[in-house]
Amino acid sequence: MTDLNPARILAIETSCDETACAVLENGRALLSSVVASQMDIHARYGGVFPEVASRQHVLSIMPVVEQALNKAHLTLNDIDAIAVTQGPGLAGSLIVGMNMAKGMALALGKPLVGVNHLEGHLYSAWVCDAGEDAPPEPQFPLMALLVSGGHTELNLMTDHLTYQRLGSTLDDAAGEAFDKVARLLELPYPGGPSIQKSAEEGDPERFHFPRAWLDGTWNFSFSGVKTSVLYEVRELQKKSKSLPTPDLAASFQQAVIDVLFKKTMDAAREFGAKEILVAGGVSANRPLRQVFKSQAEFPVHIPPLSLCTDNAAMIAAAGYYRYALGHISGLEMDILPTWPLS
Ligand code: KG4
Ligand code: ZN
Repeated sequence: MTDLNPARILAIETSCDETACAVLENGRALLSSVVASQMDIHARYGGVFPEVASRQHVLSIMPVVEQALNKAHLTLNDIDAIAVTQGPGLAGSLIVGMNMAKGMALALGKPLVGVNHLEGHLYSAWVCDAGEDAPPEPQFPLMALLVSGGHTELNLMTDHLTYQRLGSTLDDAAGEAFDKVARLLELPYPGGPSIQKSAEEGDPERFHFPRAWLDGTWNFSFSGVKTSVLYEVRELQKKSKSLPTPDLAASFQQAVIDVLFKKTMDAAREFGAKEILVAGGVSANRPLRQVFKSQAEFPVHIPPLSLCTDNAAMIAAAGYYRYALGHISGLEMDILPTWPLS
């Protein structure tokens, strides 16, 4: 455990289509985490509808904060600081959480801590349920693979809040590729879990989709593999064959996992990392988790499924370190976070 001052953080996350609030102690022990998902509402549009998302956040934010406090058996007076996702994300969604957090901080006279959403994802690896035996904390230097719907990045984390971005995607993020390929294959939204489910019945070696290694860089590219799936689908449709959807899903999934895994391992070796961290929505993917856990030659930290996709516990964890180490944004903060933050 860290020797930083103890603190109880209440965090709010509204960057996309989840309204979330959590209470966390000392950067690790989760007292409560509430996530109101809008997934069913956006499913009918096949993706997140920004205006609908922000209106839904307005409706959900108060009950979600109340629930998080009730579940933690605390009142606002028991909270030391408020953390909130500052960005990146949908402006109309972020503003709802930021205004709520600013209002609470101002009314309570408590510090306000702005958290970058990507930093939040990385800190999901520090969170564990209060009352349970905590697994070992990630050790620096840490090679962190962030794979979400909007980002795919390799960051070397040399200390708390200290990142060196080695590479990122040149086009689609890994999660975005999952979502687009799912749409191509007429699988339901959200695409990642649908591809995973369909792939369970499929042969990952039936189609050989390209792996963009981008040798000599730590960048990624996933638009090529997505386009290959599109061409394969068109070819099959031209021959009026019914689509072998599970095989297409499994082969696509395997191509993405191969690249994510190998590049992360190579980077870890090259930069002398002690351990690996994988976070973000795509880290919920079961075969990806299996590959990292069974084949990596380093200790691997992957958050539990509930903390892979968007949640406020991760924002509270990052918020704790920002608070305890004195990196506090204050009420003047705007939706303009920089990344990486060091
Ligand atoms: O981190 P996240 O909840 O939101 C962003 O910050 O973007 O990530 C959402 C992304 C979506 O693209 C979704 O399809 C993907 O994570 N995802 C998955 C799985 N669960 C969610 N991708 C692959 N396999 C999954 N099981
Ligand atoms: Zn996210």
